[in-house]
Amino acid sequence: MTNAGLEGVVVADTKISDVDGERGKLVIAGADVEQLAAATSFEGAVSRVLAAGGAPEGTITPAMISAARAAAWELMPRLGDALDHPDGMDALRTALGHLRVTGGEVSAAAGAVAAVAAIGAAPVFVAAWSRRRAGLPAIAPDPAATHAADYLRMTIGRVAPEDAVRALDAYLVTVIDHAMSASTFTARVIASTHSDLISAMVGAVGALKGPLHGGAPGPVLDMLDAIGAPANAEAWLLAELAAGRRIMGMGHRVYRVRDPRAAVLETAVRPLMSPRLELARAVERAAAKILRDKKPDRPLAANVEFYTAVLLDAVGLPREQFAPTFAVSRIAGWSAHVIEQHRTGRLIRPASNYTGAMP
Ligand code: COA
Repeated sequence: MTNAGLEGVVVADTKISDVDGERGKLVIAGADVEQLAAATSFEGAVSRVLAAGGAPEGTITPAMISAARAAAWELMPRLGDALDHPDGMDALRTALGHLRVTGGEVSAAAGAVAAVAAIGAAPVFVAAWSRRRAGLPAIAPDPAATHAADYLRMTIGRVAPEDAVRALDAYLVTVIDHAMSASTFTARVIASTHSDLISAMVGAVGALKGPLHGGAPGPVLDMLDAIGAPANAEAWLLAELAAGRRIMGMGHRVYRVRDPRAAVLETAVRPLMSPRLELARAVERAAAKILRDKKPDRPLAANVEFYTAVLLDAVGLPREQFAPTFAVSRIAGWSAHVIEQHRTGRLIRPASNYTGAMP
């Protein structure tokens, strides 16, 4: 029997993260996501997930990550037209392909070097792409800034307010890893052939781009804008479903309850007083009710993308930058999985069911 979506198929033992879809629990490298987002910086979460994946001690430090941002800046003149892509995920995929830290070696130490380069490069490339889109010059990284503060500063062109930096940092921690998501699986498949970490990152960005995975938060914000006020939510959502479209930010392959990351991000965005937060809550309530009525057998609740849209908008990022910002964080989780796959995995090579003509 064909299992086209591979639901329930276990392809790896991992120490990096665990999703309990029935109870709505996410554990990242031994900590609940709620605890991690409240108590750890992105740099702290990076060391944690990479150590869980098997990166040797001392190979990933905050100073190395900021040095990698500086190294990526030096590479900028050699990116050709990579950052001219109208889509930020295409730009990031192309720019990451320029990182020259690849080799035949698949050791954890080589993986850690490539991981640091990729983690440092992603915010530099994405922020430069975003500014180029707006007709503005790119801004060099500041080695003294935190990853979240520097990413925001390189995008908006000035030092961002502390509460915006804190909210963005909480977001980057919250989405750093999520078990065998489609993009993580992609990275692990590539790593399983003993290909290098940068190739795996390029493939994973391609997988994350689609609206069924990381491409949803931009459309969530479009939806909130189109609805405009809570009173319009029900009619708008019903019309959307009647037209055969899905409600963005709702539903998940694994969660059968509300995605725990939605609550973490809802809390993180509160201090920013976003005018969109109340609307988002009302739209979520209306969508959950309508979907419950339409699909009583398939629980469909808010996923991470719903409040990602509100948070990233409130910190001052344009909606076209939402999916690339997801990649700025998840690149750390992907890296940890590549190191773990290189250390412990086998070639991933499933089977298919031939339905074509026989000779
Ligand atoms: N809006 C409306 N209906 C939805 C829905 C949504 N957001 N999500 C799922 N459904 C419906 C499907 O149409 C399907 O109905 P059918 O059986 O009548 O065809 C049923 O629920 C099961 O959906 P299925 O496609 O099997 O679920 P999945 O596990 O493959 O999909 C998602 C998971 C995330 C891809 C899906 O929920 C979705 O498309 N959500 C919107 C996009 C999104 O928010 N993506 C970000 C994910 S983190």
